[in-house]
Amino acid sequence: MRDLIIAIDGYSSTGKSTLAKLLAAKLGYIHIDSGAMYRAITLFAIQNRMIKGDTVDEKALIEGLKSVDIHFEINPENGQNEIFLNGKDVEKEIREMEVSSKVSLIAKIPEVRNHAVALQRKLGRKKRIVMDGRDIGTTVFPNADLKLFLNTSAEIRAQRRYLELLKTEHPATYEEVLENITERDQMDSNRKVSPLRKADDAIEVNNGNLSPAETLEKILEIIREKFSDDTGTQ
Ligand code: DC
Repeated sequence: MRDLIIAIDGYSSTGKSTLAKLLAAKLGYIHIDSGAMYRAITLFAIQNRMIKGDTVDEKALIEGLKSVDIHFEINPENGQNEIFLNGKDVEKEIREMEVSSKVSLIAKIPEVRNHAVALQRKLGRKKRIVMDGRDIGTTVFPNADLKLFLNTSAEIRAQRRYLELLKTEHPATYEEVLENITERDQMDSNRKVSPLRKADDAIEVNNGNLSPAETLEKILEIIREKFSDDTGTQ
């Protein structure tokens, strides 16, 4: 059976992580949410007062990165791979609006990207991984066995994210979420280093009208077709 690296890229809140989690569980692979790494570094910068308005103290952050430990651990209660920042589970904290509103500022810093990409490549050394993000198929794993690019309208994405945030301690309005998503799309697509774009060999999937289960089924079909019986999903 051939081991795969599966890259899932796309705009904010297209359901990449949901799909990546379901797919990894189905294949018995590990799931790495690369956006969680940029979010954890953003949380670190916020906690250490390195962000003032839209200005980041890049020098302090780059120096600080040397002492930052970011790793993932499986939560035995739900089987999910959760992110730890310096020994603390920050999986919930990094999803709050405060982090969401600053993360694109942090993710465009070249040294931050180099740091995160090095960690991501290390995690992919043994293959059997589904990683989702913005530049996984273009930069992190240009030789990934399967590259998917998810796409959905900003309004559908904002509605989904808004409903998710309603369940948390810090909900936001639909308008705030839509504005944040549109702003992040802009910044992620226009940054100098590794901007968000579909890899030439990625398969684009529009999942606006598909449930997570339906999206998963569609992807499994692609995998069955592309790799026939060598992943054991038949
Ligand atoms: O997937 P997400 O919304 O949790 O990602 C948070 C931010 O991190 C997003 O605005 C862009 C950035 N990001 C990135 O630049 N490269 C990645 N591979 C993943 C995320």
